[in-house]
Amino acid sequence: MRRKLVVGNWKLHGSTARNEALLLQFQDGRLADGIDVAVCPPFTYLQQAVGLLAESGVSVGAQDVSAFHRGAYTGEISGEMLVDLGCSCVIVGHSERRSLFGDTDPVVARKVVAALETGLTPILCVGETQSQRESGLAEQVVAAQLESVMACVDVNRLDHMVVAYEPIWAIGTGLTATPEQAQVMHVFIRRFIESTGADGQSIRILYGGSVNSANAASLFDECDIDGALVGGASLDFESFRAICAAASGVVRQGDLRRV
Ligand code: 13P
Repeated sequence: MRRKLVVGNWKLHGSTARNEALLLQFQDGRLADGIDVAVCPPFTYLQQAVGLLAESGVSVGAQDVSAFHRGAYTGEISGEMLVDLGCSCVIVGHSERRSLFGDTDPVVARKVVAALETGLTPILCVGETQSQRESGLAEQVVAAQLESVMACVDVNRLDHMVVAYEPIWAIGTGLTATPEQAQVMHVFIRRFIESTGADGQSIRILYGGSVNSANAASLFDECDIDGALVGGASLDFESFRAICAAASGVVRQGDLRRV
């Protein structure tokens, strides 16, 4: 059984004081109760988050990583630097980086390789726009995004990778893919990964796009939705805790059903 994973993507939000207030609540929040939980603050606050979350069971990740390990690359942050700070995962290829900062498929693939080489878990984001979905191209778009990464990585190392399906039309819009829509795409992604020879059954596929405390449980009920990548709701402790509780509740129900 794949362990559920809930990741908070703080995007461009936070300050030393606000983060401290939020993360202090994580310390005894028992968020990671039978599930894995991570938060991804901006680079400048990673060290603060690692320090404040040390005893919480909650991991810390970055929102991006350089494709390069070292050298004359002004402004870049390498995977080794992130590991050095205590990070264990990194979001790669988020749609905001793809659309606003030039992260093309080949760039994203090189970043995934760099993350794997440094021992970070890459959380590879894929997803289609509204017009691509309306044109019936959603699966084709997601397949192309996956294909460029799969072509560059050793399939035997892929069980460390996490995929996040984030339909662009659902990000920050309050529109969520229905659990059925998300499940269909998650099955497509898992089969696509399996078709490359990788162990698709062990790879966790998260859903992202307006996940909140009200819709999380129904998404997690779908058997191929292995957790969530949460934007806005991860900045509010009670909302994030409720999403984590929904994920751990599904785990417990699943365990009971198996007994
Ligand atoms: P929202 O949860 O705010 O829609 O953001 C989703 C997202 O982009 C997470 O990476």
